[in-house]
Amino acid sequence: MTGPRFATLAVRGSYNHEAAAHNLGSLGEPAYLATAQHFDSAETMRATAAGEREGWVYARRGNPTVGHLEDTVAALEGYQVDAEVSAAVTTTGMAAITLATTPFLSTAVGAKPNIVASPACYGSTVMVFDKRYGDERGVSVRWVDDPLSVDGWERHIDEDTRFLYAESPSNPMVQLVDIPALAELARWAEIPLIIDATLATPALMRPLGLGADIVVHSLTKAAGASGRSMGGAVIARHGLQFRGQPAEMTTNFAGYLRSGPMRDMGSVLSPFNAWTLLADIRELRARVDSMSTSALRVAEYLANRSDVVEVFYPGLPSHRTHHLAKRDMWLVDSGGPGRDAVNRFGFLLGFRPAGGVPAAHRVMDRLDLFWRANNLGQVKSTVTIPAIGTHQQIGGDEPVPSDMVRLSVGLEHTDDLIEDLDQALTRRDVAGRRSTGPSEAMPEIAVDRVE
Ligand SMILES: Cc1ncc(COP(=O)(O)O)c(C=O)c1O
Repeated sequence: MTGPRFATLAVRGSYNHEAAAHNLGSLGEPAYLATAQHFDSAETMRATAAGEREGWVYARRGNPTVGHLEDTVAALEGYQVDAEVSAAVTTTGMAAITLATTPFLSTAVGAKPNIVASPACYGSTVMVFDKRYGDERGVSVRWVDDPLSVDGWERHIDEDTRFLYAESPSNPMVQLVDIPALAELARWAEIPLIIDATLATPALMRPLGLGADIVVHSLTKAAGASGRSMGGAVIARHGLQFRGQPAEMTTNFAGYLRSGPMRDMGSVLSPFNAWTLLADIRELRARVDSMSTSALRVAEYLANRSDVVEVFYPGLPSHRTHHLAKRDMWLVDSGGPGRDAVNRFGFLLGFRPAGGVPAAHRVMDRLDLFWRANNLGQVKSTVTIPAIGTHQQIGGDEPVPSDMVRLSVGLEHTDDLIEDLDQALTRRDVAGRRSTGPSEAMPEIAVDRVE
């Protein structure tokens, strides 16, 4: 055996018997809800602040509970990766994306930076690149026409390109990119390949092992599936080297972020949020396995309906990047002596009901069990229409169809979810859900409200 397996790392993190002994035997990592560390002398304060002895000094520079989350995220994303890996956790996924990318945009290392990215990205990521970097900082943003065409990526790269960026799978079209092929291109250009792997989670895919240099996550999603806290993470291999970028930055990129940009700009995660995320991330493998198994059944059910025009799920052979998902998305540690590894394709899917935008709205309004909400990866199944929700800022029919309903499959029984979809797609009797009350599929529970 080469070391603890993924699920063990998730449960144990960096909190072992010895760490518990320093915390009155507490079985779980204590939540250090404190902004600063007390020192017994001026000398101890000096030495700790100088990094000569262990400590955390001030919560913007570090906090023990946040540190445990960083260790755990690094262990999971770095699992079976042949390199040392570190993580920095942030307030949100968007903070992680800006933190991972802004250091590469410095004009100190070249004139006018440009970036090459897949347009199949979450709406706010598109906004950060187009508005915050493009309009406000003069960065040239080169969106590739087809994220699957490696030649298309290559055509956009020149000596001022600072990084390649893609989501895999993407939100909401659940399209993968060919990470090993893009990694090779990035290595040739001596620039980083940055992958947002929020939808896969390290339980299904670890891009660092496929050749990516830096991975970003929104921990608000499946990592924090109970829906209590927002959070984000930047995870990087040690010993990165890029054209024109200082070694101080790339030797341990996550460590650099923690001790420089994040400390200075203040996007640190609150220890309370870190504590709730630590509790959620423990069950990541089992949860993502179950949610993905359920999502595949839901996708197959929808694909078999004549009143559904199109289903988007990488587990379906009809999906454009099914071949990549089959190659790269595996339930971690599912293979072993006497048992084959199993593919899992994640918890997110989309579909277009017959009847266009009005039908999409109608189906969404009629669902009783799915929560109409703009989040994903939660234990509670959610439904949204990206064109009016998560991706409204982008507008138009490209790259997200305006009649696409997006489902994030949680941990409810799959049969209940399918029954809910069934009644939402077939009910013909009423104009809208509110006028009729909930369907038979899910009896409403009476709740006393105090207002
Ligand atoms: C793929 C992806 N990346 C990043 C984000 C941003 O995460 P957060 O909302 O935690 O800032 C989202 C949010 O939906 C997302 O879906």
